[in-house]
Amino acid sequence: MADRSLENLDEETRKLLDAIAASETLEALRDAEPSLVGKRSVLAAWQKSLGAMEPEARREAGTRLQESRRRVQSALEDRRQSLAKEDRDRVLLADRLDLGDVVVRDVRAALGAGHPSLVAVTQRELEDVFVAMGFTVAEGPEVETDWFNFEALNIPPAHPSRGLWDTFYVDLGEPETVVLRTHTSPTQIHLMEEAVASDSLPIHSVMPGRCYRRDSPDARHLATFHQIEGLVVDESMTFADLAGVIESFTRSYFGSGVTSRLRPGYFPFTEPSAEFEVTCTLCRGAGCRTCSHTGWIELGGCGMLDQAVLEAVGIDGERWSGFAFGFGIDRCAQMRHELTDMRALVENDVRFLEQFS
Ligand code: PHE
Repeated sequence: MADRSLENLDEETRKLLDAIAASETLEALRDAEPSLVGKRSVLAAWQKSLGAMEPEARREAGTRLQESRRRVQSALEDRRQSLAKEDRDRVLLADRLDLGDVVVRDVRAALGAGHPSLVAVTQRELEDVFVAMGFTVAEGPEVETDWFNFEALNIPPAHPSRGLWDTFYVDLGEPETVVLRTHTSPTQIHLMEEAVASDSLPIHSVMPGRCYRRDSPDARHLATFHQIEGLVVDESMTFADLAGVIESFTRSYFGSGVTSRLRPGYFPFTEPSAEFEVTCTLCRGAGCRTCSHTGWIELGGCGMLDQAVLEAVGIDGERWSGFAFGFGIDRCAQMRHELTDMRALVENDVRFLEQFS
């Protein structure tokens, strides 16, 4: 009789294996476990029936039963592991969906759905304003020798005025002879030397570009920033021409309600020199934290070309005169878009970037 009941052992075992495979969750598997291999399972019932068998038949039936139990147990364990893995994968996948969203956006930006940074846009707008006023646009290198960044600009080695620019030195050649340009003024020297060499004066140019200073970033400063330099070398230029250019620029770029003012200043390469300021656009001149409660924001410096600079590049100061100015592009972006903190320009916070897409 016992033998007969073991006749359908293979079939019953297959049913158990099917039930295990059909369990969709760890919970379902746990609930099914007692009826699969527990005390009330068909395997346990068979096990009990072995006692009533003849010794030989018992040995044989026992072996078969053990083999079935081993298969069922191992199927159970495999299923448990694979369901647990599915659970873990599901959690990971849910997490990865958020991350995937960001990655996809980055990829989209890289593939062309992005947009120029606010600084790049500002630079282009500034160039447009000056081009409309008759200037050409030129560019110069960001790594300069001491000659271009300082000496030709009437800033001799060890001169105290070098303290005006906290300089990054490049470890190249003699110590302290190669620098990351601290301003765009060295590009003036390149342009003047080229104009002398090609006998192509006068010059009416603006020169935008990236500059570097060993500054701690704050609401109005970045260690890597952008300037646009202006240079006019022509006959009979006066300070009134300079002031006129600055004021026309201010009005056309910032619009009505914003004006410029010049305050006496000092730069080794201009004489006389002035600092140039515009109405603070955040408070419209009333005074706020960003403008240190003055109502004005300093944009840059300017002045009439110093004779020593004309001499350094070999321009005849009897015939030619001129003026130069230089100011911050990032600062313009800050004023134009009323940013309380300039650091937003480089932090790449998507909530900021999306406002200018
Ligand atoms: N290069 C000066 C600076 O960065 C600004 C400046 C440019 C001043 C041209 C006078 C003339 O501080």
